[in-house]
Amino acid sequence: MTAFELRRKYIEFFKEHGHKEIPSSPVVPENDPTVLFTTAGMHPLVPYLLGEPHPEGKRLTDYQKCIRTGDIEDVGDNSHLTFFEMLGNWSLGDYFKDESIHMSYELLDKVLGFDMNKISVTCFEGEGDIPRDDEAASYWVDAGIPKERIYFLGRKHNWWGPAGETGPCGPDTEIFYDTGKEPCSPNCDPSCSCGKYLEIWNNVFMQYNKTKEGKYEPLKQKNVDTGMGLERVIGLLEGKNSVYETELFEAEISKIKELSKVYNEQSARIIADHLRTSIFMIIDGVRPSNVDQGYILRRLLRRAIRHMRKIELDANLVNILVETFIDKALYEMYPETTKNKETIIEVIVQEKDKFIKTLENGEKEFNKNAQKAKEEGTNKLSGEVVFRLYDTFGFPPEMTLELANENGLTFDMEEFNKLFKEHQDKSRAGAEQKFKGGLADHSEQTTAYHTATHLLHKALQIVLGPHATQKGSNLTAERLRFDFANPAKLTPEELKKVEDIVNEQIQRDLKVTCEEMSLDEARESGATGLFENKYGEKVKVYTIGDFSKEICGGPHVEHTGDMGHFKIIKEEAVSSGIRRIKAILEK
Ligand code: SER
Repeated sequence: MTAFELRRKYIEFFKEHGHKEIPSSPVVPENDPTVLFTTAGMHPLVPYLLGEPHPEGKRLTDYQKCIRTGDIEDVGDNSHLTFFEMLGNWSLGDYFKDESIHMSYELLDKVLGFDMNKISVTCFEGEGDIPRDDEAASYWVDAGIPKERIYFLGRKHNWWGPAGETGPCGPDTEIFYDTGKEPCSPNCDPSCSCGKYLEIWNNVFMQYNKTKEGKYEPLKQKNVDTGMGLERVIGLLEGKNSVYETELFEAEISKIKELSKVYNEQSARIIADHLRTSIFMIIDGVRPSNVDQGYILRRLLRRAIRHMRKIELDANLVNILVETFIDKALYEMYPETTKNKETIIEVIVQEKDKFIKTLENGEKEFNKNAQKAKEEGTNKLSGEVVFRLYDTFGFPPEMTLELANENGLTFDMEEFNKLFKEHQDKSRAGAEQKFKGGLADHSEQTTAYHTATHLLHKALQIVLGPHATQKGSNLTAERLRFDFANPAKLTPEELKKVEDIVNEQIQRDLKVTCEEMSLDEARESGATGLFENKYGEKVKVYTIGDFSKEICGGPHVEHTGDMGHFKIIKEEAVSSGIRRIKAILEK
């Protein structure tokens, strides 16, 4: 079975069971400032898991492109990937444990043809007021899994979410495949990471919402959220030991092998994984930079290039690697890779050139310091020099180590580690800030900012003309950021006009209404549509009084009246032809 077929079979199966297929969202979440990337199929569905009705109904299925960079150091083993596809099905207050478990069993057994004797499952063992999930276990027994292959585990293994600090969560039941490896100990079970048991699917029974105060409140509706890792399952179905041996990576890995002079498998896997993830980030608009998503992209690309150098694969051939990936593996499942090929290659080649320059400058600086050390009669570089190379010149410490070795020098590792740790602590504190709101930060303030972007969008079109369409937006509870098309800087008069129009609409206390309709009906009704390709058959149209009508997922305020006073605090260029406005709502 190919990955393409697996995906189709999964989706068709759930469609036959009354689910509607919805499209994958971008890897960078829209209007959710609390996470950098979409890490699971449930991310774009958070408002619906919390009770908002979904235009497509209560049974949904999709495949979602996901990025998880938390395990980046593990990439290179048999199963870790920074980009993967999650197949999923959802019940939004419809079926619950019984039907979910029976459908999972049927799909694995009848459609995918798994040897069901090799399947084990785990259920939640209970904690505090939440009882052991004997209910889920009983459905497994009923479906055909014998009691001996049902394990009860604690919160660490059988509780999912919330994805951020707050949001939907609940006990889950996980499905494992026994690879046939010898057990690592007599106690080896699915909780063990020795590789005997591979998790293939996770059914989360979302019945709680974790609040900011850390309380678990029962959700208005009981949901099911499942996730199956496509790459991992295709590996098992193809009988491969590793995801890197499947059709998804085969051509790329052999190209890397062909072009490298001193091949090693681990570096090849790192290069392949990182390039694949970078390709999908670039398609969704991420560009290398020193902050947020752009920083992760930069880090992945530079790490890939470092490993290319390590296996003596000329970094200038990176375009061949990207092309091979797209033409030989990605094109079928992801036509958007072919469509964006030129841009992808351009962005990657530019970053490669920058990094090579960085390395050259770093090498010069290294040589200066090496020379100095020698003149001073020592063969040791201080940790401070190594750290400066890293911090100021962007020179990776492992490269300094390599060069030092070549030059017969040592360096003060302890001092470097100390400085490095201080630096890491500082940046970690920054990153944690970003996550503090939790995934489901659909707070009142963020919602008001969301409505404000619709008002701003319309006001810009009134003042500047219909060309001033939205090119992006980003919201926090403190401000909004809105990118739009316009050839020139806005004059103070234009900015004032835009502000006045928005404030007038707020003062008019316009009612905000939402209707569901097909994309065609929405267009006919005159609604502005953004990111159209992301939507399925039916869309939601938010109307703000007689002022604005946009296709949008929501949420929005009910009335504009108490949003506060709208104030533009900055207007600047993003790139040629695209301007950015930052604005706040003063209470
Ligand atoms: N949200 C769950 C997971 O990420 C199931 O989709 O595993």
